[in-house]
Amino acid sequence: MSYLGLDLGTSGLRALLIDDTGSPIGATERHYPLSHPHSGWSEQAPADWIAALDSAVEELRIRFPAFAELRGIGVAGQMHGATLLDKNDRVLRPCILWNDSRSHIEAAELDQTPNVRELSGNIVFPGFTAPKLEWVRKHEPAIFERIAKVLLPAGYLNLYLTGEHVADMSDSAGTSWLDVGRRSWSDELLTKSNMNRDQMPRLVEGTETAGTLRPELAKRWGVSERIIVAGGAGDNAAAACGIGAMNEGQGFVSLGTSGVLLAARDGYSPAPETAVHTFCHAIPGRWYQMGVMLSATDSLNWFSRITGTKPADLTAELGPNLSAPGSVRFLPYLSGERTPHNDANIRGNFAGLAAGTNRNDMTRAILEGVTYGLRDSFEALRATDARFDELIAIGGGTRSDYWLSLIATVLNTPLRLPSSGEFGAALGAARLGIAAAEKAEAAEIMSPPTLSAPILPTADLRSLFNEAYDVFRASYDWQNEAPQ
Ligand code: XUL
Repeated sequence: MSYLGLDLGTSGLRALLIDDTGSPIGATERHYPLSHPHSGWSEQAPADWIAALDSAVEELRIRFPAFAELRGIGVAGQMHGATLLDKNDRVLRPCILWNDSRSHIEAAELDQTPNVRELSGNIVFPGFTAPKLEWVRKHEPAIFERIAKVLLPAGYLNLYLTGEHVADMSDSAGTSWLDVGRRSWSDELLTKSNMNRDQMPRLVEGTETAGTLRPELAKRWGVSERIIVAGGAGDNAAAACGIGAMNEGQGFVSLGTSGVLLAARDGYSPAPETAVHTFCHAIPGRWYQMGVMLSATDSLNWFSRITGTKPADLTAELGPNLSAPGSVRFLPYLSGERTPHNDANIRGNFAGLAAGTNRNDMTRAILEGVTYGLRDSFEALRATDARFDELIAIGGGTRSDYWLSLIATVLNTPLRLPSSGEFGAALGAARLGIAAAEKAEAAEIMSPPTLSAPILPTADLRSLFNEAYDVFRASYDWQNEAPQ
């Protein structure tokens, strides 16, 4: 028996096949473009996601005979994206993604509307789905009138796989239309942003069955017609399932395009004033909280494009041993920031450049700036009483030992890495596929991976990094006061 996990990310789709013990059989990836037609805009063509899925599955099918014994599928997706469909399920415009900040005015208006934070449990950030629809209503009214359904990226793959409009709670929590405490669509929230319940997909828990694989796909893939597709999850909830972060004290730091610090919570205790996100977990009756920064590895990737040097080469040049904070400072706000500032207009900055500044000094400043941004999320989470007994580090940025040691020191928390194999959102999605197909208990499936020895804070640099963090905090205020 085998199960398929799909992680529909911002830069590409990862497809992972696992067996019934949860061990990986094989994986593959496909990449697709991101377009930025104007400053602050970020879009993708849903047709590219489907092409990536078709081609990834074709490869898995050919390379791994176990694919023919498929029983369940789970989809994890980049959150918040607005995929707009007409009454025939045709895509009306490119999907407006989570890191698109064009709707900051609409977001601020909705955020100030009475009861919105109370019901949704969160600030209405510009990246969330509801303000995007308000933007479309104002700027593309002909499209707005034709919207029959709004699906998140994972929901769009669910539609392709099952033929049904269905979404899970964890992803839907990022729309500003869900009553996150009650885990149901809120008519009040929908009305406040000129939407209605008919335009929403049916809600299921991530571990429940969303539908069965369409017969046409089952035939093409050479699998049985009774394949269960799970509700799935937003990518962060799926990653939490992949590393087994279900309970208080468990969490992760994710160094991906966005930087996420996530804490699993037993109950629902929103704290929108901290700019921490409070969302449903993919497991029934559970929630999680996270701080989100918009440009984590994206900041390093930006510098890599400018210098024509691969990110891994840039970080390797720093060597493995942590140095004291440098005199160059970097503010990582290339696409604005969510936690803790909720500021779509703020932009990045280098300060303290001198005639002798070299590329390494700038790389180091970027890693430090992103890490101070994570510390901002860490402090915001602490204000909500979330706790971390230790942190598991995941995502592309964890390939740099230097960066890991920096994060452990700045957060003063030991970090552990999954020692090998699969553990991210694709594994979480595949595990949700098992839960739905086999009606299995989530707690039995969502176990933590084998972890490396802890990466410890560098004690003698702690106070210097604390001082540097204070300077970083003050730089945000300074930048905000600067003339626009
Ligand atoms: C979470 C968020 C990002 C995306 C990235 O709120 O916007 O982490 O989910 O895929």
